[in-house]
Amino acid sequence: MSSLAMQGRPLFLHYCAACHGVTGDGDGYNAEQLEKEPAELSNEKFIGKKKDSQIYRVIKFGGLGVKKSHLMPVFGHTLSEEEIWSLVAYVRYLAEDDDHPVTVPADVSKTRPASLPLAHDSVESFSEWFLKNGTDSTLISKGEKLFRKKKSCYACHQLDDEGGVVGPDLSRAGFYYTPEWIFRWIGNPQKVKPESRMPNLGLNNEECRAITAFLVSLQEPEFNKKWQGYLDSPGDAVQGEKIFFDAEGKANCGKCHAVNDRGGKVGPPLSFVGTSRTKAFLLESILKPKAVITSGYSSVLILTKKGKFITGIKLNEDDSSVDLIDKEGTSLHILKNDIKRFKTQKISIMPGNFKDILTEEEIRHLLAYLATLKIQN
Ligand code: HEC
Ligand code: HEC
Ligand code: HEC
Repeated sequence: MSSLAMQGRPLFLHYCAACHGVTGDGDGYNAEQLEKEPAELSNEKFIGKKKDSQIYRVIKFGGLGVKKSHLMPVFGHTLSEEEIWSLVAYVRYLAEDDDHPVTVPADVSKTRPASLPLAHDSVESFSEWFLKNGTDSTLISKGEKLFRKKKSCYACHQLDDEGGVVGPDLSRAGFYYTPEWIFRWIGNPQKVKPESRMPNLGLNNEECRAITAFLVSLQEPEFNKKWQGYLDSPGDAVQGEKIFFDAEGKANCGKCHAVNDRGGKVGPPLSFVGTSRTKAFLLESILKPKAVITSGYSSVLILTKKGKFITGIKLNEDDSSVDLIDKEGTSLHILKNDIKRFKTQKISIMPGNFKDILTEEEIRHLLAYLATLKIQN
């Protein structure tokens, strides 16, 4: 493999394999969710007749940018020009196309497009605007159209059991996320989480507003009324923090969750859930973790050829191996050759019995603590 293709390989596994498959056969786990088949990049005939500039353009501008399907996302707002060239080289490698060695043109940029491609409202002025206009039905239907037909969102996210499964199911997005958070996240996911697999889709301010209005309109039809009591009176954040990190206590949330680098890595970091998640959703996450499995934290079950069962959360996968972390926080590296069966399970690694072992007051303290975890700036 050329050194340029070597550079493209981890990018391909991170951003492309979900649809195109780890070997480029077009059979990634997300492929069957899509109405249009992801191209078979390992097919030499298909790739061999394309120019470098054609492969480059579809990655940079997305499917719609070259009159193909909107289900192929745009990566030019996320990756540097040089990284995109490295992907062109890796695609040629996957197709075993040795006749067209790829070289990077002179003067391409090596830095990622870090700043916003377009100016967006500040969170404060968005909030003000959203209070007045957020439920406008024309705006909501404009947002829905962008989501389903124009901006690749549907290629990675489900609505009512249809659509992609790379990111979280958004059928109840308005119940999970605050409007401010959706607006901020979709405008530039990398600013919040540089390693996110969700690319920056280059949305302008109007598009961010419309999509946010659409997603906020997707609410939880039947929030458990019995849980309202947990939300009605406020808890004490200082006590909540103690319960969260008490290694001898009943909850010991910190064993699995980190807040600003303090705590474990089995579950998602919770450093700014006070900004991003609604209180009702945080409550549901504690009382009934399996109702929503955080994207990237599904538990997998592996049966090895030697007859051993292993469960954990999948961190990485390539053509020859899988990396897991188990519920004690131990990292495991498993060769695909040793695996007999591999299954993603609809259960959470997070214990499901906090409702029974914690008092209502303790849960209110925890919620109060989580609410203080805000993103800076
Ligand atoms: C969410 C799914 C998805 C992801 C992620 C994705 N693709 Fe695609 N890709 C598609 C689909 C669907 C097509 C078929 C488009 C069409 O033919 O209209 C496609 C087509 C292509 C093509 C062929 C275009 C042509 O000229 O026919 C290339 C090359 C490609 N993708 C490269 C990539 C690379 C490189 C990445 C990662 C940076 C990537 N794709 C990520 C879904 C995806
Ligand atoms: C290539 C796949 C992909 C595409 C395309 C995509 N997303 Fe995502 N999205 C993800 C993934 C993966 C996550 C989980 C993020 C993470 O934690 O890194 C995510 C997370 C989200 C979240 C939740 C953020 C949070 O705090 O957890 C929202 C809201 C969202 N996406 C909306 C959108 C919208 C709107 C679009 C279209 C404009 C879109 N996504 C396009 C993959 C994608
Ligand atoms: C054994 C490990 C473990 C323990 C202990 C644990 N969690 Fe979790 N938690 C997880 C995992 C794994 C997930 C992701 C899967 C899921 O969504 O259920 C998660 C998800 C969450 C989420 C949803 C995050 C999001 O943004 O979607 C919240 C909130 C949460 N946990 C809070 C807590 C609190 C509060 C405690 C202590 C009372 C706790 N957890 C204890 C492992 C754990």
